[in-house]
Amino acid sequence: RAEKVKIGHLEPHRGSRVRVFGWVHRLRVQSQMTFITLRDGTGYLQLVLTGDLVKTLDAFDLVTECTIEVTGELKQVPEGKTAPGGHELVADWWRMVGKAPTGVDAYASLFNEKSDLSVRQNLRHLDLRAETPAAIMKVRAAVLSAFRAVYAKHTVMEVTPPCIVQTSVEGGSSLFKFDYYGQEAYLTQSSQLYLETCLPSLGDVFCVQESFRAENSHTRRHLAEYTHLEAELAFIDFKDLMDHIETMICEVVDMVLADPVVGKLVQELNPGFQPPARPFKRLDYKDAIAFLNEHDILFQDDDPAVAPRPHQIGDDIAEAAERKMTDMLNVPIFLMNFPKHLKSFYMKKIEGDEEFTESVDVLMPNVGEIVGGSMRISDIDELMEGYKREGIPADPYYWFTDQRKYGTSEHGGYGLGVERFLAWLTNRWTVRECQLYGRWPGHAAP
Ligand code: 4AD
Ligand code: MG
Repeated sequence: RAEKVKIGHLEPHRGSRVRVFGWVHRLRVQSQMTFITLRDGTGYLQLVLTGDLVKTLDAFDLVTECTIEVTGELKQVPEGKTAPGGHELVADWWRMVGKAPTGVDAYASLFNEKSDLSVRQNLRHLDLRAETPAAIMKVRAAVLSAFRAVYAKHTVMEVTPPCIVQTSVEGGSSLFKFDYYGQEAYLTQSSQLYLETCLPSLGDVFCVQESFRAENSHTRRHLAEYTHLEAELAFIDFKDLMDHIETMICEVVDMVLADPVVGKLVQELNPGFQPPARPFKRLDYKDAIAFLNEHDILFQDDDPAVAPRPHQIGDDIAEAAERKMTDMLNVPIFLMNFPKHLKSFYMKKIEGDEEFTESVDVLMPNVGEIVGGSMRISDIDELMEGYKREGIPADPYYWFTDQRKYGTSEHGGYGLGVERFLAWLTNRWTVRECQLYGRWPGHAAP
């Protein structure tokens, strides 16, 4: 009996008889010979059926997305021909495992390259079977495991903070609220505050957690639920924080590109991709404002009736302006030292320039902001002032405040949007392509 092998593990079995299972990915029927590309998630395999086997196919309505079992000899493809993995299976037996619809319901009739995007989004469970969505998900898995490996190398420990919370991190306006046994609770926007409380117990920590933002932003880079990779580091200064972020991004990219399978997928999705050069460009917020004005990139008020005007110090740099600037500079950027009033209550102020903060965003070409981070207020009195300034009741934050009471430390951290990182790495138009099942305003199915 032939050994059962996954397609991705066939290489050592060349010249032997094997048994494979999979989904019919492509089908080319000729009178004497049929070629099938079989898919099982680990790879693609070319099957060749000849003679009597070809005759049996019609009788069974073999179409794409049927599942089949096949046995045969695995042969190296003849010179001058190509096939995935460099080999093909010459079948001597096959059987139908699960049929798929024919006619109007056939997989091949559901959508194609020209279909409206919403058609594919509503059929995401079937769209995932196509090559590009599957490739993005494979890169995504490799990116997440590379982050875990690189954090382990730098002694940053993984923790799993809760999703159900009763405090806000990035302002109340984007909280999803719900009833929690008669109390108000929220879906987490960021696990930052919880990570900070782990420092005295576990040292440097990180988490990979879903974050939720009830923003009504219909942009290329806003999701209602996204995967948030966050880390927090004790006894560091602002420069250490930026060096660490740069190291993480570069080591993760190197590790992903070094994987023979996934590195190739990245190059196929994003031809010519080059790992970022170190050090990243450091750009002060005030210099960014000057850059925008030098290049006539205007400030647009939230109210579209207000005429655009040049940027002023203190203005928020909106997505469109940030994107234009990043694409013009066309390198990774640390955008640093944002004004205090644009940022959250926990951010540390710059000594001697108290209207600004030790904060940093990483901006990448094609996406803009992929990371937001800062040094945190370590002094308890200053934190109390921060709550007051932002109109935040201190009581629910008692556990976060205690962090400063029981042995404080200079510390800082950041959050990286995994889908934005992937949109940059794989050159996608929107982060929506980088989630398994997308969640954005108005869309939560399938
Ligand atoms: O800049 P943000 O809001 O920062 C924080 O939440 C900090 N508390 C993180 C920290 O310091 N631990 O979010 C961090 C990152 C952004 O840079 C972006 O990449 C991503 O999270 N992000 C989103 N991604 C997709 N859709 C959204 N609506 C996002 N909001 C933020
Ligand atoms: Mg941000």
